[in-house]
Amino acid sequence: MNTQPIIQVQNVVTAFGSTVVHDRINCSIFEHEIYALIGGSGSGKSTLLRELILLQRPLSGTITVFGQNIDTLTPKDAQQLRQKWGVLFQSGALFSSLSVGQNIELLYREYTDLPTNLINELVKLKIDIVGLPAHARYLYPSQLSGGMIKRAALARALALDPKLLFLDEPTSGLDPFSARQFDTLIYQLRDLLGLTVVMVTHDLDTIYHIVDRFALLGETKVVAEGSLNEVLAINHPLIKYFFQSTTQTSHQKEIHGIQS
Ligand SMILES: Nc1ncnc2c1ncn2[C@@H]1O[C@H](COP(=O)(O)OP(=O)(O)OP(=O)(O)O)[C@@H](O)[C@H]1O
Ligand SMILES: [Mg+2]
Repeated sequence: MNTQPIIQVQNVVTAFGSTVVHDRINCSIFEHEIYALIGGSGSGKSTLLRELILLQRPLSGTITVFGQNIDTLTPKDAQQLRQKWGVLFQSGALFSSLSVGQNIELLYREYTDLPTNLINELVKLKIDIVGLPAHARYLYPSQLSGGMIKRAALARALALDPKLLFLDEPTSGLDPFSARQFDTLIYQLRDLLGLTVVMVTHDLDTIYHIVDRFALLGETKVVAEGSLNEVLAINHPLIKYFFQSTTQTSHQKEIHGIQS
């Protein structure tokens, strides 16, 4: 593991009016990790994710991504940085009037000068890599199942070969079987493509199966950060509350056939 974090959050304060959401929070995400932001509803997970992807600014503190302080980026730097990551929004956020293939193609048309035949090949490759059948490229979002929408949105998020992938509640709305399949896909793609993955999740199974480290947010703080075993060793009521009635460990990975 690289010792320099890819993302570092230092003393970040976020407030909306008089409501403080983050009070001097810190966390670090390293290359090649699958890292989760977890915590109760309203604990500020999505807000932190939005700050990481430049959709929102904290009140104070420092966030560095790929070594760059995101508060001091020129618009050009910000645009270049945005192209280094892919984002899978919770709803998938595909354009409903475009087919899956066209949704992916759009990114190449917007950000590259690649010729049409090469774009065509890349679209095929991205559709294949997320486990969708080839004909899915001609389908429209309304013709896809929930699991297929997530995969199509993932194919689009991976279009420009990002090294960093942000996922917002990737398994929400999926049945348990599809959710575990999607976890496995993320796990495999992390290795195949050398990705660093940052996700907001409520899904304890995802945490048990594929997450390497996570930050538990609560009461305006990062209550704990680390691997599952490290965090479970800490005696804190919020940790107990979050993981209550669960006795699984990361050994569950083996049960589900995921190599660790
Ligand atoms: N744009 C905004 N304006 C005002 N308040 C906001 C805004 N965005 C978020 N908040 C508030 O910040 C707090 C944290 O919201 P956030 O969406 O980050 O929580 P969350 O941890 O993602 O919760 P959930 O698990 O329910 O999605 C909430 O109290 C929310 O109402
Ligand atoms: Mg949220």
